[in-house]
Amino acid sequence: MSLCKRRGFIFQASEIYGGINGFWDYGPLGAQLKKNLRDAWWQDMILNPCWGRKGPDGERVTCVPVETCIIQNPKVWEASGHVGGFNDPMVDDRETKGRYRYDHVMVYVPESGDAGDKPVFAYVGDQPSEAKQKKKAEKTFGAIKSVPLSSLARPWDRVIGPDAEKPGTLTEPRMFNLMFDTIPGAIRDEANKAYLRPETAQGVFVQFKNVVDTTRVRIPFGIGNTGRSFRNEVTPRNFTFRSREFEQAELEFFCHPSESVAWYKFWRDFRMEWWKSLGLAGENLILREHDKDELSHYSQGTSDVEYRFPFTAPGFGELEGIAHRGDYDLTQHQKHSKIKLDYFDTTRGEVLPNGGKKGERYMPHCIEPAAGLDRGALALICEGYTKDESRPSPEFLKLHPRIAPIKAAVFPLVDKDGMPEIAEKLADGLFKRFGHSGFIETDPKQSIGKRYARMDEAGCPYCFTVDGQTKEDQTVTVRDRDTGKQDRMNIDKVEAFMAEKLGG
Ligand code: GAP
Repeated sequence: MSLCKRRGFIFQASEIYGGINGFWDYGPLGAQLKKNLRDAWWQDMILNPCWGRKGPDGERVTCVPVETCIIQNPKVWEASGHVGGFNDPMVDDRETKGRYRYDHVMVYVPESGDAGDKPVFAYVGDQPSEAKQKKKAEKTFGAIKSVPLSSLARPWDRVIGPDAEKPGTLTEPRMFNLMFDTIPGAIRDEANKAYLRPETAQGVFVQFKNVVDTTRVRIPFGIGNTGRSFRNEVTPRNFTFRSREFEQAELEFFCHPSESVAWYKFWRDFRMEWWKSLGLAGENLILREHDKDELSHYSQGTSDVEYRFPFTAPGFGELEGIAHRGDYDLTQHQKHSKIKLDYFDTTRGEVLPNGGKKGERYMPHCIEPAAGLDRGALALICEGYTKDESRPSPEFLKLHPRIAPIKAAVFPLVDKDGMPEIAEKLADGLFKRFGHSGFIETDPKQSIGKRYARMDEAGCPYCFTVDGQTKEDQTVTVRDRDTGKQDRMNIDKVEAFMAEKLGG
């Protein structure tokens, strides 16, 4: 976190006013890193889906984008189930006004035997309450164990809330809707209430018919949507991992029901490979298939790509969910909007005497790879973060060149003897070719070691240095961030070298 702040990756939102819980801003390097991640997703999911690989139907995969509004007609969220069902049971504390997710609250009780009429201490894991309550519980009981609050009989009149002093102040669990609401228009009437979207996916379902009617896409095909989503998370935590405003990149892939399981497996495997291709390639990344009892009633499969973040270790945290959503969403929107959203497939049905097909009308099934770009950016930073006291920069970031916000640095060894001019010319060429995907850093000042160290910390993969030899033989040194090794290469070869390294 301190490297992120120091080098301008991630800042607390509204920091000069003390911040605001659950909201984060990206600084110059973070904004570019996140854009590179979004662009990589767009390139590999929309423009050249799955790197040109054929789908289970033996054809090239087709996807198109949409960009839909954060605020939609509130009926969208009634149809999707978010108004009625996007709830978590919560417990409130009457003394502290704190609010906690019911399933997150644990209680310290005596290891054996009953607490009698002594108080028991509630806490939320990973929060300051955990250590504080543990200390008090040990003082009261000696040996303790921890059990979920839900395992205690109600009313909880001997339970001391996570941040409370007196017992008996926790309320019964109550439902709490995670959607932020707002009132568009001048008349501040509850009847005009609308919501900030909690996911980008629904924007796709409600535009499904328009996309089919106005483009040449035919099933199977996907519609991608990226953008901000909002959830009034009760316990935002772990840096950007659980925020109240975050960015999603979701694909809704529509297919014939009979082919949906094959497409589900295809997308699940591709998404795992994709995250690996960006550098999350070790044992910190797993694909976890949900058990049958974790699946929603309409789903025939869901898996999560999970990353072992430092704050979840030894456990894992979800980066992306890949869900088989069946025909649930289109059916719901058809029911609520009374607009037909089924699909007429001219490639199916019995063969006609003229050799054509009769066609088949059906409700498409949907496979949804739903990624979080903030969690993705955070995982890439965590994975890249490397400590090595023997280096001039004891901390550095091994970011994949495709994602790195600074693509290359060009340094004159000293700020004289014609070196700055050669460096500037080299940098000009790199700006033109690669400046769309990241910064090209030029810096003639400071010792060369300090300049390398700064680039290492920012995750810049290659530094090119113009030195005394350059004038004689037109070579520069290229320094590899990860090994610190330097080689000489002809100055004319630098662009081709970078193109090869940045290739997606
Ligand atoms: N349309 C399906 C859907 O939204 P989800 O698992 O709730 O599924 C998808 O969200 C991804 O969005 C998650 O895997 C995660 O990366 C990201 N995400 C969800 N809630 C988040 C939060 N509060 N903060 C940051 N990222 C979040």
